[in-house]
Formats: sequence, structure tokens, C-alpha cells
Amino acid sequence: MSDELAGKVAIITGAGNGIGQATAEVFVAEGAKVVIADLDDEAGAKVAAALGEAAHFVRTDVCDADSVSALVDATIAHFGKLDCMVNNAGISGSYRRLMKDDLRDFDRVIKVDLLGVILGTQAAARVMSPGGSIINTTSIAGISPGVGFTSYRAAKAGVIHFSRCAAIELAELGLRVNVIAPGNIATQINAQFDTASVVAQIQPLQRLGSPQDLANAAVYLASDRAAQVTGVVLPVDGGTTAGHPPLKPETVMREKKPAGS
Ligand SMILES: NC(=O)c1ccc[n+]([C@@H]2O[C@H](COP(=O)([O-])OP(=O)(O)OC[C@H]3O[C@@H](n4cnc5c(N)ncnc54)[C@H](O)[C@@H]3O)[C@@H](O)[C@H]2O)c1
Repeated sequence: MSDELAGKVAIITGAGNGIGQATAEVFVAEGAKVVIADLDDEAGAKVAAALGEAAHFVRTDVCDADSVSALVDATIAHFGKLDCMVNNAGISGSYRRLMKDDLRDFDRVIKVDLLGVILGTQAAARVMSPGGSIINTTSIAGISPGVGFTSYRAAKAGVIHFSRCAAIELAELGLRVNVIAPGNIATQINAQFDTASVVAQIQPLQRLGSPQDLANAAVYLASDRAAQVTGVVLPVDGGTTAGHPPLKPETVMREKKPAGS
């Protein structure tokens, strides 16, 4: 580690588990102080305790404006300033096909995955000084059209459009807004799926991604090395959004080779 974030203070929402937890750990390893913001008291407090004085837990519901505002106030009270806001908290929702989806999860998914990002961006921008960095989490599901996850895809596509608008609006304050798009990472959000099997089918780079891969991308966008970077969407997906891996010849060739040749 090389102290890429020395002296910086960051809030990471959804840092009680998965990608947010890894981001908090890597940020601290890079010299930052972090506020762990999560609805899950137990998990959030545990992550903060393991990181010692460099971390502080604040129970937060990202879709509640008062809760997000209190989070930012608590960060200023505890660490004195805010340099980076990582709006990472998210939930998944139904993966049923469109015609079978009752959309019962729509309000909750849109509130956590999209409104939560908007509220976090607003509240952070109100207190940040020039040079501040806001990092919003979308998904490859918000970039590439696909089947199922209707509410989730809509929310995550919204995160991208909102963030690019915010990048323009907040540039006059000297703030940067960028987006990270994770590919398939084995965390509790997609526990019902065999991530390795999905990766084998749709990801050109067959290496299995980890929460730390996302954390490393966030370090770059939070750091002054990205001072000229705003309004971008960075997929961390082993090439999934670039295109599918080569098809197996035996599945696409019209002429089959005679047996034994
Ligand atoms: N894991 C993947 O494959 C993948 C792929 C694409 C995008 N993402 C996105 O990455 C982000 C992190 O996901 P993850 O894989 O680490 O999932 P995770 O379930 O491991 O972690 C999500 C965290 O968000 C917290 N959270 C949920 N609702 C909240 C709320 N209202 N307020 C505050 N905290 C709340 C949860 O308690 C949890 O700690 C999410 O936005 C997710 O959509 C993940």
C-alpha cells in the first residue's frame, strides 16, 4: 500500500458487507479515515471495530433524507471534514422475467438503489470542498440490457444518468462525480447465483472478480490522481460489458466434423 488516500475522509454506504466493506478496508490501508454507513447495525459496527480509530460506524438508511443528512453531520463532527462519498449501498430485487414480475419490489429498489445515491450525492456536495470526489455504484445490469431484474436494471441505469448530470452540475464547485459498475462478484446480494458459472459463460476475462477489485477502482477515483476525471462510468467486470467471450466452435459451426477426424 502507498498512502494514496492519506489525509482523506470518506463515507462509504453499505460498508457493513461485501464491496463496501472491502472498500472501507482498502481505503484505511491507503491512509484514509472512513465512516461506515449501513442499515445493518451489527455488521457495520463489526467492520468499524476491526478498523480501529480510522473508522467510525453510523447507522444509516440511505433512502431517508434525514438519516443521510445526519450521517454527513456525524462525519464532520467525528473526523472534521468530508473528501469522498461512496454511494455503494444497494439491494437486488426480483429476478423474475418481465411478464411474471409483479413489481412489488419496485418502490424499495428504486428508493435504495437510486434515491439513496441521489440523497448521498446531494448531502455530500453540500459540505465538500473543491477536490471532493463522489463515487456512485451502478451495475453492469444498468449498462447492458438483459432479462429479469426489471426494477434493479431501471434503478441502476438511473444511477448512471443521474451521476453524469451531477458531474456537470457539481463541476462548478470543483467536485467530481464518477460511477463504478461491478460485474459478477460473489457477495450476499447475489448469493442465490453460482457466480463462477455465470462468469464462465459471459465474462471474457475468466478470472473471478473480488470486492477488492472494486475497492481498488474506488481508490483511484477518490485519489488526486483522478483530478481530471469526472462523469465517467468505470466497469470493473472482466470485460463483460465489452462483449461476450468467444462462442465454442462446436455450438456455432454448421458442418460437423465426422466422428474420429
Ligand atoms: N455483487 C455483485 O455482483 C454486484 C454487481 C453489480 C452491482 N453491485 C452493486 O454493488 C453494491 C454493493 O453490493 P454488494 O455486492 O457488496 O452487496 P451486499 O449485500 O454484500 O452489501 C450491500 C450492503 O448495503 C447495505 N444496505 C442495504 N440497504 C441499505 C440502506 N437502505 N441503507 C444503508 N445500507 C443499506 C446492506 O446492509 C449491506 O451491508 C450495490 O449497490 C450493488 O447493487 C454488486
